[in-house]
Amino acid sequence: MSFIESMKQKAISYGNRLVLPEGTEPRTVKAARKIIDDKIASQVTLLGSQSAVAAVASEAGVSLSGISVVDPASSELLAGFADAYYEKRKAKGMTHEQARIDMAGVLRFGAMMVAKGLADSMVAGAENTTGDVLRAGLTVIGTAPGSKTASSCFVMEMKDRSWGNDGLMIFSDCAVIPTPSSEQLADIACSAAESCRGFIGTDPVVALLSFSTKGSGGKDENVLRVQEAAKLLSGRSVDFVFDGELQADAALVPSVTQKKAPGSPVTGKVNTLVFPDLGAGNIGYKLVQRLAGAEAYGPFLQGFAKPISDLSRGCSVDDIVVTAAVTLVQAGKKS
Ligand code: ACO
Repeated sequence: MSFIESMKQKAISYGNRLVLPEGTEPRTVKAARKIIDDKIASQVTLLGSQSAVAAVASEAGVSLSGISVVDPASSELLAGFADAYYEKRKAKGMTHEQARIDMAGVLRFGAMMVAKGLADSMVAGAENTTGDVLRAGLTVIGTAPGSKTASSCFVMEMKDRSWGNDGLMIFSDCAVIPTPSSEQLADIACSAAESCRGFIGTDPVVALLSFSTKGSGGKDENVLRVQEAAKLLSGRSVDFVFDGELQADAALVPSVTQKKAPGSPVTGKVNTLVFPDLGAGNIGYKLVQRLAGAEAYGPFLQGFAKPISDLSRGCSVDDIVVTAAVTLVQAGKKS
């Protein structure tokens, strides 16, 4: 079964609830219909004024039957959401007035629905920028306990099934943090390991990548940053196998690992690559996608206390459906 099909099947069996804040965006409305019809979510809420959402649905020839529509500006939830947001942000200078204005916006209202357990996942970004979707998630939902860092990953599906776990690998972070500190890199490694378990369903084996293997690159600050991240992970007694700093070939090719990092615990088993910065991660996944013909699914956000996803503004209806399925799977199975 392909990665996409397995995520859809899991989402169907989990029966989680989805909020789509961009309820007046035509591709989003079409995706909502498909998600309900295919039972990928047990409930879908579109945000926006009732009349505007209805007009877009009518224009798109989509029935809103079985789909909830909530207008943040007139919702009875607004006052409570604004109070909760004010409490969370008052130390940062938030006022009651600003909290109400922010909360009447669809992105923060949707994020608060997830924070409050009125929805399990949020997907947005068909018309808002990555930064705006991330900021709504960061200021309303925040990061998962034990992590200070939100980041992202791609699930890469290689043509050559001998890589990773039957061709599936996690690449992280390829979309969020331009220059992570050592502590952020350690957080990214932990989140990527979690994503490996959730998306690939296997024990993570993590390589912290660099242009240096075990000190070969000298004392350059970019080498030291990755070395320090590896030290921090050792101190955290994490429950996954990792090694770093490693060059990509030392991480992936056992004969090279033997030469450059003999005795490495990751030899021949790596399924999760952690890149030293966003430049390497973003370029790295695109090279593998284009030159090796791999499928690149994502970016999926990780490290948030509750799952949200960002879309590309060029996304298709199917992209929204797949991203919704993945984000609903991230919410986990309710007991
Ligand atoms: N993890 C945890 N907290 C964070 C993070 C993070 N990664 N980034 C910012 N924060 C916190 C800030 O500390 C701040 O907290 P506070 O207000 O409580 O003090 C809060 O979130 C809001 O942060 P801002 O200062 O408003 O945002 P900032 O300017 O730091 O930008 C952002 C953060 C939006 C995530 C930025 O790094 C970004 O735009 N990244 C995306 C890069 C990009 O363009 N990617 C897309 C291309 S790649 C692709 O799509 C494949």
